[in-house]
Amino acid sequence: MDYKKLAKSALDAMKMSYSPYSKFRVGAALLTKNGKIYTGCNIESAAYSPTNCAERTALFKAVSEDEREFAAIAISGAPENGEPQYCYPCGVCRQMLNEFFTDDTTVIIVKTSEDYKIHNFGELLPFGFGAENLSM
Ligand code: THU
Repeated sequence: MDYKKLAKSALDAMKMSYSPYSKFRVGAALLTKNGKIYTGCNIESAAYSPTNCAERTALFKAVSEDEREFAAIAISGAPENGEPQYCYPCGVCRQMLNEFFTDDTTVIIVKTSEDYKIHNFGELLPFGFGAENLSM
């Protein structure tokens, strides 16, 4: 897996962020098992709560294009006039990713295309609630 390429895609996606309220930009790049990358950014609303995070934007784009098998996601966040920082997915995104990820799906938390942390999804959402709880 090309971590560097995925990290760069997340950083590029961050540039598309629509975040006039928080002024905090987030970008995500989701890698399918077939090697395709879907990117996403956070998209905010003046009503605040309808805001969509970058991770879910990427996931919704991919799933709506018939993708369900994912190898990895890279995520980066930065204040409008600042440097990217390690930005971990919020609880809502972790729960939504849990729908399609497994414990061994790779999560890359990106500062730069040279500086990133690699995790398994299982580290980010241990003991998650999932389809198995509904006997599926
Ligand atoms: N945000 C994301 O896009 N992903 C996360 O995992 C954390 C938070 C966005 C939502 C909002 O637009 C801004 O960051 C500040 O919370």
